[in-house]
Amino acid sequence: MTISFTNLALLTLLVLIISLSFGGITATKSQRNEAEMFEQWLVGNGKNYNGLGEKERRFMIFKDNLELIEKHNSVPNRTYELGLNQFADLTDDEFQDIYLGGKTKRTSLSLRWEWDTTNRYRYEEGDSLPDEVDWRERGAVVERVKNQYQFSNCGGCWAFSAAGAVESINQITTGELISLSEQQLIDCATDANDRCDGGDAAYAFMFIKERGGIVTDEDYPYTGINNATCKAIEMITTRKVTIDSYEGVPIHDEMSLKKAVANQPIAVGIDARNMHRYTHGVFAGPCDTTLINHNVLVVGYGTNSTTGQDYWLIRNSFGSTWGENGYFKLLRSNIQNSMGICGITLTPVYPLKSNSSFNLLSPSVFRLVFLFVFQLIGLALLV
Ligand SMILES: *[C@@H]1O[C@H](CO)[C@@H](O)[C@H](O)[C@H]1NC(C)=O
Ligand SMILES: *[C@@H]1O[C@H](CO)[C@@H](O)[C@H](O)[C@H]1NC(C)=O
Ligand SMILES: *[C@@H]1O[C@H](CO)[C@@H](O)[C@H](O)[C@H]1NC(C)=O
Ligand SMILES: *[C@@H]1O[C@H](CO)[C@@H](O)[C@H](O)[C@H]1NC(C)=O
Repeated sequence: MTISFTNLALLTLLVLIISLSFGGITATKSQRNEAEMFEQWLVGNGKNYNGLGEKERRFMIFKDNLELIEKHNSVPNRTYELGLNQFADLTDDEFQDIYLGGKTKRTSLSLRWEWDTTNRYRYEEGDSLPDEVDWRERGAVVERVKNQYQFSNCGGCWAFSAAGAVESINQITTGELISLSEQQLIDCATDANDRCDGGDAAYAFMFIKERGGIVTDEDYPYTGINNATCKAIEMITTRKVTIDSYEGVPIHDEMSLKKAVANQPIAVGIDARNMHRYTHGVFAGPCDTTLINHNVLVVGYGTNSTTGQDYWLIRNSFGSTWGENGYFKLLRSNIQNSMGICGITLTPVYPLKSNSSFNLLSPSVFRLVFLFVFQLIGLALLV
């Protein structure tokens, strides 16, 4: 069983030849890595394809995206990073059509004038605003970043942005943070919205105001179903959150938006067509200033201390694995009458709720009513 010297030499030569030719056959090292990366990405994102040739087609798109990501991330003065997230097998057009509701007509500029812009948050010379705001730190934002695509390609961003704004104003005015039902809005607020095909936060507020509230997402869970029948909610036994009204922030003015965000999280429309590869940093375009295809919630603003760049802090509805734990930053300026980028100043809108608006189902109000009735009975007995 001894191996002779010549055999060993032959074996070594063979190994050498094989490894050399292998290198030649498999073209480049990077291509082999791309296939590996794609397989890893498929597993990590729980993806599999059924159609004939679909996997090959998706791999081509994946490679295009990878190239674009690497090119972007190699620019020295970039302000944000791109990466392989759940949308890495989609072309830009597909992302827009499937996920942003390219067919959406509701999030268009022409509808902006159907609700009232007021001066409540209009920026005036001399207004003093905080340099930094993060409503998450004040406990006014539901921790779990919801994912509108959890079950389907539902373009219900408008419902997530609206529910988020109401969750926040409710916490700010009552101290209670209650996660609310996007599905109720998608199923029921259909007078002016198109369910999973698009809509506008303002029309969701209109529904919540007119129908006497929105229920919790525990009572009316998210399904992502586009055409479900609106479930009748037993308002007596179900917890709900009300608002008094809703208003628009003065448009085309980043300083008024800043003032508004200093007071409460604000629902905004944006052009998100190029945001699907974003992973972190301050997104600075490319995007359109006059086009809106996505609704999100501005929950704060600030400045990067290293780069000095001002940004809006925004809650998205793509789940917590997207972007910065579900959030992203968008370039901001401190200039009055500035449009900002990606259409952020075109349709900012917010719900109103005063501290005195009683929620008849809240424990504290219930206790008050109970005490009052109890005293009435006592009084009646005395008389
Ligand atoms: C990066 O530098 C290039 C070349 O100087 C310039 O054209 C580009 O606007 C810069 N980008 C940013 C985001 O500063
Ligand atoms: C409403 O109540 C909250 C806490 O209960 C308080 O922080 C806030 O300042 C109040 N707002 C107004 C307008 O009174
Ligand atoms: C709802 O959509 C599903 C799937 O798209 C379809 O099968 C069903 O018939 C639709 N139902 C109604 C009431 O339109
Ligand atoms: C500030 O920007 C730099 C450069 O983009 C980045 O590395 C850093 O993480 C940012 N800081 C914060 C707190 O996000």
